[in-house]
Amino acid sequence: MTVNYKEIGLVNTKEIYAKAVGGGYAIPGYNFNNMEQLQAIIMACSETKSPVVLQISSGARKYANQTLLRYMAEGAVEYSKEIGDGIPIALHLDHGDTFELCKSCIDLGFSSVMIDGSSHPYDENIKLTKRVVEYAHQYDVTVEGELGVLAGIEDEVAAGKSTYTRPEEVQDFVEKTNVDSLAISIGTSHGANKFTPEQCRKNEAGEYIPPPLKFDILKEVEKRLPGFAIVLHGSSSVPKDIVKIINDNGGDIKDAIGIPEEQLRKAAESAVCKINIDSDGRLAMTAAVRKVFNEKPEVFDPRKYLGPARESLKELYKHKITNVLGSNNKA
Ligand code: G3H
Ligand code: 13P
Ligand code: ZN
Repeated sequence: MTVNYKEIGLVNTKEIYAKAVGGGYAIPGYNFNNMEQLQAIIMACSETKSPVVLQISSGARKYANQTLLRYMAEGAVEYSKEIGDGIPIALHLDHGDTFELCKSCIDLGFSSVMIDGSSHPYDENIKLTKRVVEYAHQYDVTVEGELGVLAGIEDEVAAGKSTYTRPEEVQDFVEKTNVDSLAISIGTSHGANKFTPEQCRKNEAGEYIPPPLKFDILKEVEKRLPGFAIVLHGSSSVPKDIVKIINDNGGDIKDAIGIPEEQLRKAAESAVCKINIDSDGRLAMTAAVRKVFNEKPEVFDPRKYLGPARESLKELYKHKITNVLGSNNKA
């Protein structure tokens, strides 16, 4: 089956990113694997009038099926019109690793794909990214590439050690690949354990304060690519209050440290036009479900625990949009 995303009411990322770069805010890149996550995303973005990039990872494709998720995104377009005025929604493949995978998503109706060639040598990354761009652009689908490697370990996205993006490479990479946006590595990483306690300093309250992001690299990248769309992955903040609810209700999440919100706010004001957040949503859902299980052991209707999980998720997403990304009222 081949369908163009425009027929189902999705948008590519060109215009929404250009406005975000110029407007000093960032659009949320929110991942989804199931209906409650998707509902929470659409409700939060509709209520705050924010554009959104709906992201489907390899893990999501394995868990929920790529075709089913794509039809859910089509449903989300209609749902956003039903509960609000409709918002710009891009459907994006997160961390695509082969040309074939990117092509299959484009053919299925995705409006945007990431080809993550960051684990390959530079020249191979260029070759692979260029091939995906050439195919995608025939259908007006936008492509995100990546230069530099993020640290951290997560189900499907793993990299032992980070390598910051080398600013001297970005211009050449963008020129040779014709990519539409670029994910860079400036100190963020995937998952809930982004830093070890040893990497952090302690403030007066005894909280761990992680090292700041490499804003010098970001600045240098912006200088070399004026007005170009930059993306940050691995940008969950791992809220302490949410981790506490998990641990107070039978969970065991240790040494979880994320990116402080003020760092992300600063990044959003720059050329960073999309910020990826997945782990914080996982934590929020887990906290809400654990609380119900702990406080109401008699509950066995999934709606009685997935409903509160969806509500917590929605509040978290609204908070990010309004207080961190600044994408409210930009739809
Ligand atoms: O970038 C990573 C996302 O959080 C997705 O992870 O492949 O486990 O769904 P996943
Ligand atoms: P987090 O694990 O920090 O939420 O990052 C998600 C991400 O980058 C998805 O691509
Ligand atoms: Zn990522």
